[in-house]
Amino acid sequence: MIDVETRVLTEGDAAAYWNLRLEALEQEPQSFAESAEEHRATPVELAAARLRQADASFVLGAFLSGELVGMAGFFREKHLKARHKGRIWGVYVRVNYRRQGIGRALFSALLEKIKTLPGLEQVNLTVSARQVAAKTLYRSLGFETFGVERAALKIGDQYFDEEYMVLRLR
Ligand SMILES: CC(C)(COP(=O)(O)OP(=O)(O)OC[C@H]1O[C@@H](n2cnc3c(N)ncnc32)[C@H](O)[C@@H]1OP(=O)(O)O)[C@@H](O)C(=O)NCCC(=O)NCCS
Repeated sequence: MIDVETRVLTEGDAAAYWNLRLEALEQEPQSFAESAEEHRATPVELAAARLRQADASFVLGAFLSGELVGMAGFFREKHLKARHKGRIWGVYVRVNYRRQGIGRALFSALLEKIKTLPGLEQVNLTVSARQVAAKTLYRSLGFETFGVERAALKIGDQYFDEEYMVLRLR
């Protein structure tokens, strides 16, 4: 069993987070709406400001011997009528570290954490329809597909469908 540490990223992780996010966008463009160009134009300081926010939204990092090798973000909806919902975003594990349980470890830590949030009832995410690994992981944790957006992303002249998934926490 791999010795992975998971913890919420803080301001001090901003540079490592910024670099891993860029790698994710370059490696898996069809999995994320943000483009690598847009990310490059976003300063590391903005990432630091995001990680500094101590509210119910956070980014969880997976570390191996101190190196950030994976991450998953969580965002709690802010409007009163939508606060029973959250959203998982930015899920990524470095290519050379995949299939060793890191994605699952990240998700079990994330789900354990959000289950303690008062009033949170369901968590949504979108996943590229072609991402078999991610979809298999999410389904194994109880996420269900409730819709498919055809041509959700367009990269050059190629279109990618996205599945909308939900996990009901109660
Ligand atoms: C999805 C992702 C985070 C999984 O990370 P990982 O560390 O390789 O995942 P794990 O090793 O913990 O595997 C967890 C489960 O995912 C599934 N899985 C992982 N890789 C798979 C593959 N290549 N094919 C089918 N299922 C796979 C399996 O169900 C696995 O459980 P098992 O090992 O008990 O069979 C990683 O593949 C990734 O970063 N993909 C690209 C980015 C992406 O698609 N992000 C999702 C955006 S919503």
